[in-house]
Amino acid sequence: MDDSLGPETPAPSTPFAAEEAAESDAHDPLIGRLISERYRVLERIAQGGMGAVYLGEHVLLRKRVAIKILRPEAASEPQLVGRFEREAVAGAHVSHPHVAGATDFGQEPDGCQFLVLEYVRGRTLAEEIQRGPLPPRRALNIARQLASALEAVHDKDIVHRDVKPRNVILAEAEGGAAKLVDFGFAKVRADRLSTVDADDPLVNSWRDLTIVGTVFGTVAYMAPEIGYGMDGLDARADLYALGVTFYEMLAGVPPFTARSNAELFAAIMDTPPPPIAERAPGVIVPTVIENIVRRLLEKDPADRYQSAGELLVALDAAAAAVWGSSPSSGPVPARSPVAPPLAPDSSGRLGEWARGVLRKVVRTTKTLFEQTPGRPGGLHAVIRSFQSSPSFRRSALLVGLPLLLLPLLVALWMSSRDRDPAPALELAPAAADDAADVAPAEAITEIDGLDADGWVQRLAEAAQSRIHNRGAEAFLALARLDPASFRRAPVRADAIAAIVGIAFAENEQADQVFSVLEQELGEEGLEMLYEIVRSKRGTKAHERAVKVLGAAVESGRASPGLRLAFEMRRSTCPRKKELFERAPREGDERLLTELKALKYAPCRRKTDPCCFREDAELSRVIDELESRLARDRAE
Ligand SMILES: Nc1ncnc2c1ncn2[C@@H]1O[C@H](COP(=O)(O)OP(=O)(O)O)[C@@H](O)[C@H]1O
Ligand SMILES: [Mg+2]
Repeated sequence: MDDSLGPETPAPSTPFAAEEAAESDAHDPLIGRLISERYRVLERIAQGGMGAVYLGEHVLLRKRVAIKILRPEAASEPQLVGRFEREAVAGAHVSHPHVAGATDFGQEPDGCQFLVLEYVRGRTLAEEIQRGPLPPRRALNIARQLASALEAVHDKDIVHRDVKPRNVILAEAEGGAAKLVDFGFAKVRADRLSTVDADDPLVNSWRDLTIVGTVFGTVAYMAPEIGYGMDGLDARADLYALGVTFYEMLAGVPPFTARSNAELFAAIMDTPPPPIAERAPGVIVPTVIENIVRRLLEKDPADRYQSAGELLVALDAAAAAVWGSSPSSGPVPARSPVAPPLAPDSSGRLGEWARGVLRKVVRTTKTLFEQTPGRPGGLHAVIRSFQSSPSFRRSALLVGLPLLLLPLLVALWMSSRDRDPAPALELAPAAADDAADVAPAEAITEIDGLDADGWVQRLAEAAQSRIHNRGAEAFLALARLDPASFRRAPVRADAIAAIVGIAFAENEQADQVFSVLEQELGEEGLEMLYEIVRSKRGTKAHERAVKVLGAAVESGRASPGLRLAFEMRRSTCPRKKELFERAPREGDERLLTELKALKYAPCRRKTDPCCFREDAELSRVIDELESRLARDRAE
């Protein structure tokens, strides 16, 4: 077992952890034992304080299984028992090629609890990363498989909450396909699981199977919004953790390391992730891929991909852009239909145990609720100290306010990066001459000896090396040669990186870039400005884009969909509500994303006018808009 219950979570008292860790398989009394009359324990795979994971065999089916066993002593630790039971419920409900599912759960007469899982032979992703950074294509492939697994997990309203390389096994038998394990910290919604009777008073009394007030997991993979507590986390926290994992695969190290958990958490809250090239000199990662990682690591969940499905689309687009193919042609169908939930009366035994477990979890969770608040030490202390610190107050961005420190940090970072290698910030003379001499009707095919493809390449190189004046130069050249190229996601992402970078310089070239976006690229330019407004909060480019787009919207130059999405974003919360009415008719995909972000934004109090979680009208409007967009697509 790993460090999940390590220094950051107060470790339960472990009567024999130290001795047992050193104990060899030969002395493990569980080896050779028959469990539940059908599972033979063969050898130990991983050891934890209160239990271990074993390789076992289903003696009747002659099939290998993994058996996770919790020692009887753990019964006095409700936190451990609760974790184990949650793991059973969550693992039983997700059936996916990239998840190691649970098939059985029970208790032995001596009090040992056991959980039977699909056995995955192979090394963990953490072990793989220890050998050095993974090639980008392989990293993207694994990220895609994990995104696909998370899509199935989230579809069941389960949040894994402990995605990290140690909880991913690369299956040898399946060409290294990734399998997500360890649902011990998962957040499970009882009412979404089909074996549960919705009218069961026990279930109704406690719908959200999470340990309220408890913080667990490994700090390095924790999303900033954890400051509001584990129970408020949604699927986007898993996407953040996947972002850290993806970064680590590419760089060989996670984005932040620090001397203490407090320092690490401070970096997670406030510091933009360093470019991969900075953390791993010599490692080259295509910009489109690094951009995906950066988006996953956005501090504000609203700025990340909003779902694993959205992430999958971006990963496929990036793979197509870089290698000309989708990575899904791997050894395993990375995206496969989720198995139907277990029917209440299906597979007799499984249905029974899942129900039994769930009842117990509900009880355990209630007990814990009464016990855990105020538990001293560990991460609680770290998080609490942040909640009362100015740093945490700055992080009010999580509920929609700007992160005050971020612009400063980003500005310092950008300026320090731009200082040395940057040559003059002017347009190449040839391009400038062209601008003056060539009549608009006369299509030009080259600027400064380079055609559109050459400039696309130059733009990508500039984004990769973050020499933003070169990027801005390439953007301006492309705007004249082939504005349609900005419709391609990777080109657009590189252009936006250049625009964000150059905006910090506040020079003539920056003015030129914004004037081209506003005046010369039509709807395409306004769309890029919107993207900057949406995803680059805290930058100079964001400030400028808000102004320029605001003026374009007011003068009626933006399409109705863009106008509404922009208005929705910048309006006050009561005004947002007024705008809902127009959404089903005038909205587009962008507005849908805005509305979903509103719906799933973390909120502290339900009475807050900005808390839309339970807003019935918003749900209706989202449904209507979704159906209209689906109809539009079909036509
Ligand atoms: N289904 C499985 N098949 C094979 N090995 C597994 C399986 N599940 C877990 N393991 C191994 O056991 C280790 C600990 O399992 P995990 O579920 O992460 O427990 P913990 O609660 O200690 O984090 C994993 O890192 C992995 O090496
Ligand atoms: Mg684990």
